[in-house]
Amino acid sequence: MSTGELKIEDLHAGIPGREILRGVTLTVRSGEVHAVMGPNGSGKSTLAHVLMGRPGYEILSGTVTLDGIDLLSLPTWQRARAGLFLGMQHPIEVPGVSLVTALTASRPEIEAGEAGADAGAGDVSERMRAEAKRIGFDERFLTRSLNVDLSGGERKRNETLQMGVLRPRFAILDEIDSGLDVDALAAVGRRVEEATEEWGLGVLAITHFRRLLKVLKPDVVHVLSAGRVVATGESELAEIVDRTGYAAYTGVGP
Ligand SMILES: Nc1ncnc2c1ncn2[C@@H]1O[C@H](COP(=O)(O)OP(=O)(O)O)[C@@H](O)[C@H]1O
Ligand SMILES: [Mg+2]
Repeated sequence: MSTGELKIEDLHAGIPGREILRGVTLTVRSGEVHAVMGPNGSGKSTLAHVLMGRPGYEILSGTVTLDGIDLLSLPTWQRARAGLFLGMQHPIEVPGVSLVTALTASRPEIEAGEAGADAGAGDVSERMRAEAKRIGFDERFLTRSLNVDLSGGERKRNETLQMGVLRPRFAILDEIDSGLDVDALAAVGRRVEEATEEWGLGVLAITHFRRLLKVLKPDVVHVLSAGRVVATGESELAEIVDRTGYAAYTGVGP
């Protein structure tokens, strides 16, 4: 079981000419689930992209470390190797590359995540099939081009499967629940929740809906507004937001 932390301190970042994140501070420890909620355009996906190192974003100040390693100075693939995973809000199509090919190529990341453990990474395809079964993802998709012609919900299951196979130390899940039907939502939520116990996965789950958080139980809930964490609390905060909206936290009425 891994122990460690993903630590974000006073992070200011944005696109050229516009600051979007205006001082984000939070720490996710191994095995914890942190939910990030917040109105549209508050910077949730920007946070996810900046953490993973998507090109086009600028870091203005602040730090992000994973077990003390400075992530912001690393290219995306090294962040992945350090144990960071991003489940994208809008997973992209990659014609010509199947999930089997992509995950087999990720074997060094899988092995890095299991340093010292008896790596079952040797059989990536077996692990893929086991993960597919757990979340009800059709095995035929494993050999087809990544996300091509997949529905929104199938893409989210695809992201979840990748997380299960890669076994990262920390996963940022950007609206992993959007597009999922109720059964898929329960299966995906359960899979992620179990990962926090199976190998101590730490989770930063961006979501609008308490539905997900009934299955994937948050230890901490943060409300992001205009690029800042304006409220932090326990799981009740998600219920309050669900009932009353964001107005009390953002000063902006519905
Ligand atoms: N690459 C980009 N180019 C231009 N504007 C962007 C870019 N990324 C984010 N933004 C803007 O920054 C704000 C925050 O976006 P985003 O992080 O996607 O919000 P959220 O995920 O909370 O809905 C929005 O106003 C969005 O239009
Ligand atoms: Mg978003």
